[in-house]
Amino acid sequence: MKKEIKTKTFLEYVAPSIKDARLRLDRETHQVSYTLDEKYKGMGNDKKYLLKTYGCQANLSDSEKISGILEFLGFEETFEEEDADLIIFNTCAIRENAEDRVFGELGRISQLKYKNSDLVVVVCGCMPQEEKTVSLLKQKYKQVDLVIGTHNFYKIGEYLKKIYETSQRITLVYSKEGEVVEMPFSKRVSNVKAWVDIMYGCDEFCTYCIVPYTRGKERSRLPESIIKEVKELISLGYKEITLLGQNVNAYGKDLNINYFFSDLLNDLGKLDIKRIRFTTSHPKDFDHATSLAMANNKNIMPHLHLPVQSGSNKILKKMNRKYTKEEYLEKISFLKSQVKDVSLTTDIIVAFPTESEEDFEETLDLVRKADFEGAYTFVYSKREGTPAAKMVDDLEEEVKKNRLYKLNELINEGFAKGNKRFEGEVVEVLVDGKSEKKDSLLMGYTKHNKLVNFEGDESLIGELVNIKITKAFTWHLFGEVLENSK
Ligand code: SAH
Ligand code: SF4
Ligand code: F3S
Repeated sequence: MKKEIKTKTFLEYVAPSIKDARLRLDRETHQVSYTLDEKYKGMGNDKKYLLKTYGCQANLSDSEKISGILEFLGFEETFEEEDADLIIFNTCAIRENAEDRVFGELGRISQLKYKNSDLVVVVCGCMPQEEKTVSLLKQKYKQVDLVIGTHNFYKIGEYLKKIYETSQRITLVYSKEGEVVEMPFSKRVSNVKAWVDIMYGCDEFCTYCIVPYTRGKERSRLPESIIKEVKELISLGYKEITLLGQNVNAYGKDLNINYFFSDLLNDLGKLDIKRIRFTTSHPKDFDHATSLAMANNKNIMPHLHLPVQSGSNKILKKMNRKYTKEEYLEKISFLKSQVKDVSLTTDIIVAFPTESEEDFEETLDLVRKADFEGAYTFVYSKREGTPAAKMVDDLEEEVKKNRLYKLNELINEGFAKGNKRFEGEVVEVLVDGKSEKKDSLLMGYTKHNKLVNFEGDESLIGELVNIKITKAFTWHLFGEVLENSK
């Protein structure tokens, strides 16, 4: 029998403000610890949750914390919508198409609410930090029970309790400058590779980007908290960690303890962890000390993801990136002089407002000079509330598409060339699992972050193995396990 979605009233309602999110009034970083009272335990017994994560590693990491909290409360994870009592969308606001996908999913999910009126739907992550999303959710998406932002998602258990008790809706999204919240909850997806947040937020305000508004002030975790977490991961058998932040090279600048990203790398490099990666770096703050830390610590992987965004100095200025094409090339040339075989990848936006054919040619020129071995490429997407949204954006769709196509052709050449250099070589691979393409194959990544497929026994999953590369393709390498590798 078809049931109506009950129109619920709001128990609490706080909407975000892009204007407030722009301010950086409180310069201090506040370290806060959070745990859940035992009284909340059991709240999710006999209930199942489904968590859908969109966007970057910051969201993947937050989702592991959300799962950790929910399982502490007694919820059990499911991957089937029909079985779920609780569906959570951890969302991304970086480009319009990312948002459209979520709205599409929310529309579809209302069908489930007709079938199960007890289903609770939550929207969290970056989208709720936007004014327009919250007002849309209020007016048009009555199937959503709880809307929370990036600054308070960790209180999800407390909010859910109120929702179960009152059957009302809650929207609580703050635009205050955030805190560093330490908590004991995390259900990690892998038991070999782990994300380690080292900082939150972003103070860069690149003119096209929504992140400084959705994630708040740049703020670092204390070195001792990070080192403690990494030591725990080592004792649990983890082999690889990826340090996370929107601009990891700004790590420590807010702490006033004269301890920066290269110091953290050097300290973590001394620990018995096999592989250290980090993302994302910003060319303005990526310094020689970081290149040297990469050169001096064998367990820091020889791969750098350094988003350049554009090769035109005019566009870089309009993007508020605070470096020039020449400075970028100088920094990577120093890195290459220290870490000889380093693999370099990047992010590039084409068709930023006022980008001319010459500006675009500058980008292609930089791509050739930098020898990138991979890149995420995007067509500029207008984000409401950012400075670029007010710039004249009159390029034709056809021009935008052509530029992206041309750029991708060049990037793919770099990808193939970067893979080709390993043909015939023996590389160390951390085995992730079965290949997505073919069940009989295993897959994993090399130190240079190259994808390798090979035939092997499932017992190798989670291990570091030596693989002889027999063939390089554009997107991956193919190889065979060396007998003496384990
Ligand atoms: N803090 C990281 C990640 C930011 S988001 C960094 O600075 O690189 C990841 C990428 O999305 C960015 O590097 C940029 O290339 C792209 N991006 C961000 N905002 C965008 C927008 N409005 N339109 C198109 N691409 C965008
Ligand atoms: Fe966005 Fe720029 Fe910050 Fe990266 S550095 S998150 S692109 S504002
Ligand atoms: Fe998206 Fe937020 Fe990350 S906007 S890219 S999920 S910081």
